[in-house]
Amino acid sequence: MRMTTLRLRDFRGYQQVLLTPPEGVTVLVGENGAGKTNLLEAVHLCCLGRSHRTANDREMIRKDQETAAVQLTVERRDGKHEVGVRLFENARRRKIVYVNGKTAAKIGELMGHATCVIFSPEDLALVKDGPQVRRRFLDMLLSQQQRAYFYALQTYMAALKQRNALLKQGDFRQLPAWDEQLSAAAAPVVRLRRAACEQLNSRARTHYYYIGGREEETFGMRYRGGLSDSADVKADMMKGLAVCREEDIRRQTTCFGPHRDEIELTLSGELLKAFGSQGQMRTAALSMKLAAFDLLEAAQGEPPLLLLDDVLSELDPERRRRLIARIGRAQALLTCTDEGDFIGARPACVLHVEKGMLTQRESREDADNA
Ligand SMILES: Nc1ncnc2c1ncn2[C@@H]1O[C@H](COP(=O)(O)OP(=O)(O)O)[C@@H](O)[C@H]1O
Ligand SMILES: [Mg+2]
Repeated sequence: MRMTTLRLRDFRGYQQVLLTPPEGVTVLVGENGAGKTNLLEAVHLCCLGRSHRTANDREMIRKDQETAAVQLTVERRDGKHEVGVRLFENARRRKIVYVNGKTAAKIGELMGHATCVIFSPEDLALVKDGPQVRRRFLDMLLSQQQRAYFYALQTYMAALKQRNALLKQGDFRQLPAWDEQLSAAAAPVVRLRRAACEQLNSRARTHYYYIGGREEETFGMRYRGGLSDSADVKADMMKGLAVCREEDIRRQTTCFGPHRDEIELTLSGELLKAFGSQGQMRTAALSMKLAAFDLLEAAQGEPPLLLLDDVLSELDPERRRRLIARIGRAQALLTCTDEGDFIGARPACVLHVEKGMLTQRESREDADNA
Protein backbone atom coordinates (compact mmCIF):
# COMPACT_ATOMS: atom_id res chain seq x y z
CA MET A 1 0.00 0.00 0.00
CA ARG A 2 1.15 3.49 -0.65
CA MET A 3 0.52 6.55 1.45
CA THR A 4 -0.22 9.47 -0.86
CA THR A 5 -1.14 12.20 1.61
CA LEU A 6 -0.91 12.78 5.33
CA ARG A 7 -2.60 15.88 6.73
CA LEU A 8 -2.24 17.19 10.26
CA ARG A 9 -4.04 20.04 11.91
CA ASP A 10 -3.22 21.12 15.46
CA PHE A 11 -1.65 17.76 16.10
CA ARG A 12 1.14 17.81 18.76
CA GLY A 13 3.54 20.61 17.78
CA TYR A 14 2.15 20.97 14.24
CA GLN A 15 -0.30 23.67 13.30
CA GLN A 16 -0.80 22.48 9.76
CA VAL A 17 1.14 19.98 7.68
CA LEU A 18 0.63 18.26 4.37
CA LEU A 19 2.98 15.41 3.59
CA THR A 20 2.98 13.71 0.19
CA PRO A 21 5.57 10.97 0.45
CA PRO A 22 6.84 9.30 -2.73
CA GLU A 23 7.16 5.55 -3.10
CA GLY A 24 10.05 4.00 -1.22
CA VAL A 25 11.76 5.50 1.79
CA THR A 26 11.12 9.02 3.07
CA VAL A 27 13.67 10.08 5.66
CA LEU A 28 12.75 12.57 8.36
CA VAL A 29 15.85 14.16 9.87
CA GLY A 30 15.82 16.44 12.87
CA GLU A 31 17.11 17.04 16.34
CA ASN A 32 15.61 15.45 19.40
CA GLY A 33 12.25 17.01 20.15
CA ALA A 34 11.85 18.34 16.60
CA GLY A 35 8.60 16.44 16.00
CA LYS A 36 9.69 13.38 13.99
CA THR A 37 7.95 10.75 16.10
CA ASN A 38 4.84 12.93 16.15
CA LEU A 39 4.49 12.39 12.40
CA LEU A 40 4.73 8.62 12.73
CA GLU A 41 2.26 8.77 15.59
CA ALA A 42 -0.22 10.58 13.32
CA VAL A 43 0.00 7.74 10.79
CA HIS A 44 -0.47 5.19 13.56
CA LEU A 45 -3.50 7.08 14.83
CA CYS A 46 -5.06 6.94 11.36
CA CYS A 47 -4.42 3.20 11.05
CA LEU A 48 -5.48 2.09 14.52
CA GLY A 49 -7.47 4.91 16.05
CA ARG A 50 -4.92 5.32 18.81
CA SER A 51 -1.39 6.43 19.47
CA HIS A 52 1.42 3.91 19.75
CA ARG A 53 2.83 5.72 22.77
CA THR A 54 0.01 7.15 24.82
CA ALA A 55 -3.43 6.03 25.91
CA ASN A 56 -4.42 9.65 26.49
CA ASP A 57 -5.76 10.98 23.18
CA ARG A 58 -5.89 14.55 24.40
CA GLU A 59 -2.11 14.66 24.75
CA MET A 60 -2.01 14.77 20.95
CA ILE A 61 -4.05 17.96 20.64
CA ARG A 62 -1.80 20.96 20.11
CA LYS A 63 -1.37 23.05 23.21
CA ASP A 64 -4.20 25.54 23.80
CA GLN A 65 -6.31 24.13 20.96
CA GLU A 66 -9.77 22.58 21.20
CA THR A 67 -9.41 19.96 18.52
CA ALA A 68 -6.84 18.10 16.45
CA ALA A 69 -7.34 16.40 13.10
CA VAL A 70 -5.31 13.89 11.11
CA GLN A 71 -6.12 12.41 7.75
CA LEU A 72 -4.36 9.76 5.73
CA THR A 73 -4.91 8.66 2.14
CA VAL A 74 -3.51 5.42 0.82
CA GLU A 75 -3.55 3.86 -2.63
CA ARG A 76 -4.15 0.16 -2.55
CA ARG A 77 -4.68 -2.51 -5.13
CA ASP A 78 -8.41 -2.02 -4.84
CA GLY A 79 -8.18 1.76 -5.01
CA LYS A 80 -8.04 4.73 -2.74
CA HIS A 81 -8.81 4.60 0.99
CA GLU A 82 -9.06 7.69 3.14
CA VAL A 83 -9.14 7.58 6.90
CA GLY A 84 -9.21 10.37 9.45
CA VAL A 85 -9.41 10.96 13.16
CA ARG A 86 -10.51 14.03 15.04
CA LEU A 87 -9.80 14.52 18.72
CA PHE A 88 -11.58 16.93 21.03
CA GLU A 89 -10.49 18.54 24.25
CA ASN A 90 -14.01 19.13 25.56
CA ALA A 91 -16.85 17.36 23.87
CA ARG A 92 -19.29 14.57 24.42
CA ARG A 93 -17.49 12.57 21.79
CA ARG A 94 -13.80 12.88 22.43
CA LYS A 95 -12.85 11.08 19.24
CA ILE A 96 -14.50 10.82 15.85
CA VAL A 97 -13.20 8.63 13.05
CA TYR A 98 -13.85 9.10 9.36
CA VAL A 99 -13.65 6.55 6.58
CA ASN A 100 -13.77 7.71 2.98
CA GLY A 101 -15.28 11.02 3.93
CA LYS A 102 -18.03 9.65 6.16
CA THR A 103 -18.21 9.67 9.94
CA ALA A 104 -17.91 6.11 11.19
CA ALA A 105 -20.26 4.87 13.88
CA LYS A 106 -17.55 2.83 15.56
CA ILE A 107 -13.77 3.11 15.95
CA GLY A 108 -13.52 -0.42 14.57
CA GLU A 109 -14.57 0.75 11.13
CA LEU A 110 -11.23 2.46 10.82
CA MET A 111 -9.29 -0.78 11.03
CA GLY A 112 -7.80 -2.40 7.99
CA HIS A 113 -8.06 0.50 5.52
CA ALA A 114 -4.56 1.79 6.12
CA THR A 115 -2.25 -0.52 8.04
CA CYS A 116 1.18 0.02 9.52
CA VAL A 117 3.92 -1.55 11.57
CA ILE A 118 6.00 0.74 13.72
CA PHE A 119 9.55 -0.01 14.84
CA SER A 120 10.98 2.05 17.66
CA PRO A 121 13.62 1.85 20.37
CA GLU A 122 10.82 1.23 22.88
CA ASP A 123 10.17 -2.12 21.19
CA LEU A 124 12.66 -3.55 23.63
CA ALA A 125 9.76 -3.45 26.08
CA LEU A 126 8.20 -6.25 24.02
CA VAL A 127 10.84 -8.53 25.43
CA LYS A 128 11.63 -6.91 28.77
CA ASP A 129 8.30 -5.77 30.13
CA GLY A 130 5.27 -7.64 31.38
CA PRO A 131 2.77 -9.74 29.38
CA GLN A 132 0.48 -6.78 28.81
CA VAL A 133 2.90 -5.30 26.26
CA ARG A 134 2.97 -8.53 24.27
CA ARG A 135 -0.81 -8.88 24.41
CA ARG A 136 -1.11 -5.36 23.05
CA PHE A 137 1.31 -6.23 20.25
CA LEU A 138 -0.90 -9.18 19.28
CA ASP A 139 -4.09 -7.13 19.64
CA MET A 140 -2.80 -4.35 17.37
CA LEU A 141 -1.70 -6.83 14.75
CA LEU A 142 -4.91 -8.84 14.80
CA SER A 143 -7.14 -5.76 14.84
CA GLN A 144 -5.46 -4.50 11.69
CA GLN A 145 -5.59 -7.93 10.11
CA GLN A 146 -9.30 -8.48 10.75
CA ARG A 147 -11.88 -6.09 12.08
CA ALA A 148 -13.77 -9.08 13.56
CA TYR A 149 -10.94 -9.55 16.06
CA PHE A 150 -11.18 -5.96 17.25
CA TYR A 151 -14.92 -6.38 17.84
CA ALA A 152 -14.43 -9.74 19.57
CA LEU A 153 -11.87 -8.18 21.89
CA GLN A 154 -14.16 -5.22 22.63
CA THR A 155 -16.98 -7.63 23.50
CA TYR A 156 -14.70 -9.61 25.77
CA MET A 157 -13.34 -6.55 27.56
CA ALA A 158 -16.85 -5.16 28.07
CA ALA A 159 -18.02 -8.47 29.60
CA LEU A 160 -14.92 -8.57 31.78
CA LYS A 161 -15.63 -5.07 33.05
CA GLN A 162 -19.19 -6.09 33.94
CA ARG A 163 -18.08 -9.22 35.74
CA ASN A 164 -15.43 -7.31 37.71
CA ALA A 165 -18.02 -4.69 38.65
CA LEU A 166 -20.29 -7.45 40.03
CA LEU A 167 -17.39 -8.85 42.02
CA LYS A 168 -16.70 -5.43 43.50
CA GLN A 169 -20.36 -4.85 44.34
CA GLY A 170 -20.56 -8.25 46.03
CA ASP A 171 -23.48 -9.18 43.78
CA PHE A 172 -22.79 -12.84 43.04
CA ARG A 173 -26.24 -13.99 41.87
CA GLN A 174 -25.58 -12.76 38.37
CA LEU A 175 -22.10 -14.26 38.15
CA PRO A 176 -23.10 -17.49 36.34
CA ALA A 177 -24.79 -15.50 33.56
CA TRP A 178 -21.68 -13.36 33.14
CA ASP A 179 -19.40 -16.39 33.24
CA GLU A 180 -21.32 -17.72 30.27
CA GLN A 181 -21.05 -14.42 28.35
CA LEU A 182 -17.39 -13.95 29.18
CA SER A 183 -16.56 -17.50 28.11
CA ALA A 184 -18.41 -17.15 24.82
CA ALA A 185 -16.57 -13.88 24.16
CA ALA A 186 -13.20 -15.40 25.08
CA ALA A 187 -13.40 -18.13 22.45
CA PRO A 188 -12.72 -16.11 19.27
CA VAL A 189 -10.09 -13.99 21.06
CA VAL A 190 -8.14 -17.04 22.20
CA ARG A 191 -8.47 -18.89 18.89
CA LEU A 192 -7.24 -15.97 16.80
CA ARG A 193 -4.40 -15.11 19.19
CA ARG A 194 -3.24 -18.72 19.22
CA ALA A 195 -3.25 -18.97 15.45
CA ALA A 196 -1.42 -15.65 15.08
CA CYS A 197 1.23 -16.74 17.59
CA GLU A 198 1.91 -19.89 15.63
CA GLN A 199 2.37 -17.96 12.42
CA LEU A 200 4.45 -15.30 14.12
CA ASN A 201 6.64 -17.95 15.71
CA SER A 202 7.87 -19.50 12.48
CA ARG A 203 8.38 -16.17 10.77
CA ALA A 204 10.07 -14.46 13.71
CA ARG A 205 12.39 -17.43 14.04
CA THR A 206 13.53 -17.03 10.44
CA HIS A 207 14.02 -13.28 10.88
CA TYR A 208 16.04 -13.86 14.02
CA TYR A 209 18.38 -16.28 12.23
CA TYR A 210 18.82 -13.78 9.43
CA ILE A 211 19.24 -10.59 11.44
CA GLY A 212 21.09 -12.13 14.35
CA GLY A 213 23.31 -14.04 11.96
CA ARG A 214 23.77 -16.95 14.38
CA GLU A 215 22.60 -20.39 13.45
CA GLU A 216 22.84 -21.73 16.97
CA GLU A 217 20.32 -19.22 18.35
CA THR A 218 16.74 -20.34 17.83
CA PHE A 219 14.09 -17.81 18.73
CA GLY A 220 10.69 -19.00 19.88
CA MET A 221 7.33 -17.36 20.58
CA ARG A 222 4.74 -19.42 22.36
CA TYR A 223 1.24 -18.59 23.41
CA ARG A 224 0.78 -19.35 27.11
CA GLY A 225 -2.26 -19.16 29.31
CA GLY A 226 -4.98 -21.21 30.92
CA LEU A 227 -6.53 -21.85 27.50
CA SER A 228 -3.42 -22.27 25.38
CA ASP A 229 -4.07 -25.96 24.66
CA SER A 230 -7.83 -26.00 24.98
CA ALA A 231 -9.88 -27.72 22.28
CA ASP A 232 -13.16 -26.23 23.51
CA VAL A 233 -12.28 -22.73 24.66
CA LYS A 234 -15.73 -21.72 25.85
CA ALA A 235 -16.25 -24.85 27.94
CA ASP A 236 -12.75 -24.71 29.42
CA MET A 237 -13.12 -21.01 30.20
CA MET A 238 -16.34 -21.81 32.11
CA LYS A 239 -14.45 -24.48 34.05
CA GLY A 240 -11.55 -22.13 34.72
CA LEU A 241 -13.88 -19.42 36.02
CA ALA A 242 -15.63 -21.94 38.28
CA VAL A 243 -12.30 -23.09 39.74
CA CYS A 244 -11.19 -19.51 40.35
CA ARG A 245 -14.49 -18.18 41.62
CA GLU A 246 -13.54 -18.09 45.28
CA GLU A 247 -10.29 -16.36 44.53
CA ASP A 248 -12.13 -13.93 42.24
CA ILE A 249 -14.58 -13.08 44.99
CA ARG A 250 -11.77 -12.58 47.47
CA ARG A 251 -9.72 -10.42 45.10
CA GLN A 252 -12.75 -8.73 43.52
CA THR A 253 -11.41 -9.29 40.06
CA THR A 254 -11.37 -11.98 37.37
CA CYS A 255 -8.22 -14.06 37.64
CA PHE A 256 -8.74 -16.44 34.72
CA GLY A 257 -9.01 -15.72 31.01
CA PRO A 258 -7.26 -14.30 27.96
CA HIS A 259 -6.75 -10.91 29.65
CA ARG A 260 -4.06 -12.80 31.58
CA ASP A 261 -2.44 -14.45 28.54
CA GLU A 262 1.27 -14.43 27.98
CA ILE A 263 3.47 -14.86 24.94
CA GLU A 264 6.55 -16.64 26.09
CA LEU A 265 9.76 -15.69 24.31
CA THR A 266 12.69 -18.07 24.28
CA LEU A 267 16.14 -18.35 22.79
CA SER A 268 17.24 -21.92 22.23
CA GLY A 269 14.75 -23.00 24.88
CA GLU A 270 15.79 -20.51 27.57
CA LEU A 271 13.58 -17.62 28.65
CA LEU A 272 14.88 -14.59 26.80
CA LYS A 273 13.78 -12.16 29.47
CA ALA A 274 15.90 -13.89 32.09
CA PHE A 275 18.93 -14.90 30.06
CA GLY A 276 19.11 -12.75 26.96
CA SER A 277 21.72 -10.08 26.35
CA GLN A 278 20.66 -6.60 25.32
CA GLY A 279 21.62 -7.36 21.72
CA GLN A 280 19.68 -10.61 21.67
CA MET A 281 16.61 -8.88 23.08
CA ARG A 282 16.85 -6.16 20.48
CA THR A 283 17.11 -8.69 17.67
CA ALA A 284 14.15 -10.57 19.11
CA ALA A 285 11.96 -7.46 19.25
CA LEU A 286 12.93 -6.56 15.70
CA SER A 287 12.15 -10.10 14.53
CA MET A 288 8.71 -9.97 16.16
CA LYS A 289 7.90 -6.72 14.40
CA LEU A 290 9.14 -8.06 11.07
CA ALA A 291 6.97 -11.14 11.57
CA ALA A 292 3.96 -8.87 12.20
CA PHE A 293 4.82 -7.07 8.97
CA ASP A 294 4.83 -10.42 7.11
CA LEU A 295 1.46 -11.43 8.54
CA LEU A 296 -0.17 -8.17 7.55
CA GLU A 297 1.34 -8.38 4.10
CA ALA A 298 0.09 -11.95 3.68
CA ALA A 299 -3.40 -11.06 4.92
CA GLN A 300 -3.77 -8.05 2.67
CA GLY A 301 -1.79 -9.10 -0.37
CA GLU A 302 0.35 -5.96 -0.13
CA PRO A 303 2.81 -4.63 2.42
CA PRO A 304 1.60 -2.32 5.20
CA LEU A 305 3.19 1.09 5.76
CA LEU A 306 6.47 0.96 7.61
CA LEU A 307 7.30 3.42 10.33
CA LEU A 308 10.91 3.24 11.44
CA ASP A 309 11.59 5.48 14.41
CA ASP A 310 15.28 5.93 15.25
CA VAL A 311 15.96 2.25 14.77
CA LEU A 312 18.83 2.23 12.32
CA SER A 313 21.27 4.04 14.59
CA GLU A 314 20.94 1.25 17.14
CA LEU A 315 22.02 -1.47 14.76
CA ASP A 316 25.48 -2.37 13.61
CA PRO A 317 26.05 -1.93 9.85
CA GLU A 318 25.48 -5.59 9.03
CA ARG A 319 22.16 -5.81 10.92
CA ARG A 320 21.14 -2.52 9.41
CA ARG A 321 21.81 -3.84 5.92
CA ARG A 322 19.83 -6.98 6.67
CA LEU A 323 16.88 -5.06 8.04
CA ILE A 324 16.76 -2.77 5.02
CA ALA A 325 16.96 -5.77 2.68
CA ARG A 326 14.00 -7.38 4.45
CA ILE A 327 11.69 -4.42 4.22
CA GLY A 328 12.75 -3.02 0.89
CA ARG A 329 9.37 -3.74 -0.69
CA ALA A 330 7.35 -1.34 1.48
CA GLN A 331 6.85 2.37 1.59
CA ALA A 332 8.51 3.71 4.70
CA LEU A 333 8.86 6.78 6.87
CA LEU A 334 12.19 6.63 8.62
CA THR A 335 13.34 9.04 11.30
CA CYS A 336 16.87 9.82 12.43
CA THR A 337 18.78 12.60 14.14
CA ASP A 338 21.84 12.24 12.00
CA GLU A 339 22.04 12.00 8.23
CA GLY A 340 24.68 9.32 8.55
CA ASP A 341 22.11 7.04 10.17
CA PHE A 342 20.26 6.17 7.02
CA ILE A 343 23.22 5.18 4.91
CA GLY A 344 22.15 2.15 2.91
CA ALA A 345 18.46 3.01 3.03
CA ARG A 346 18.47 4.77 -0.37
CA PRO A 347 15.84 7.36 0.45
CA ALA A 348 13.55 8.70 -2.25
CA CYS A 349 13.06 11.88 -0.26
CA VAL A 350 14.74 13.56 2.70
CA LEU A 351 12.77 16.00 4.82
CA HIS A 352 14.17 18.18 7.52
CA VAL A 353 11.97 18.48 10.61
CA GLU A 354 12.21 21.52 12.80
CA LYS A 355 9.74 23.00 15.30
CA GLY A 356 6.57 22.00 13.53
CA MET A 357 7.94 22.65 10.05
CA LEU A 358 8.99 20.31 7.27
CA THR A 359 11.42 21.28 4.55
CA GLN A 360 12.54 19.18 1.63
CA ARG A 361 16.25 18.81 1.22
CA GLU A 362 17.35 16.66 -1.64
CA SER A 363 16.36 13.56 -3.50
CA ARG A 364 18.85 10.77 -3.34
CA GLU A 365 17.47 9.37 -6.59
CA ASP A 366 18.30 12.62 -8.35
CA ALA A 367 21.71 12.54 -6.79
CA ASP A 368 22.25 8.99 -7.97
CA ASN A 369 21.14 9.81 -11.49
CA ALA A 370 23.30 12.90 -11.70
N1 LIG B 1 0.19 18.59 22.56
C1 LIG B 1 1.30 19.21 22.13
N2 LIG B 1 1.26 20.50 21.76
C2 LIG B 1 2.36 21.14 21.34
N3 LIG B 1 3.57 20.55 21.23
C3 LIG B 1 3.68 19.25 21.59
C4 LIG B 1 2.55 18.52 22.05
N4 LIG B 1 2.96 17.27 22.32
C5 LIG B 1 4.26 17.22 22.05
N5 LIG B 1 4.70 18.41 21.60
C6 LIG B 1 6.08 18.75 21.21
O1 LIG B 1 6.58 17.73 20.37
C7 LIG B 1 7.98 17.62 20.58
C8 LIG B 1 8.39 16.17 20.62
O2 LIG B 1 8.16 15.62 19.38
P1 LIG B 1 8.73 14.21 18.97
O3 LIG B 1 8.08 13.88 17.68
O4 LIG B 1 8.59 13.24 20.07
O5 LIG B 1 10.27 14.56 18.76
P2 LIG B 1 11.37 13.72 18.03
O6 LIG B 1 11.75 14.50 16.80
O7 LIG B 1 12.51 13.66 19.00
O8 LIG B 1 10.82 12.39 17.70
C9 LIG B 1 8.31 18.31 21.85
O9 LIG B 1 9.11 19.40 21.53
C10 LIG B 1 6.99 18.76 22.40
O10 LIG B 1 7.08 20.07 22.91
MG1 LIG C 1 11.36 10.56 18.48
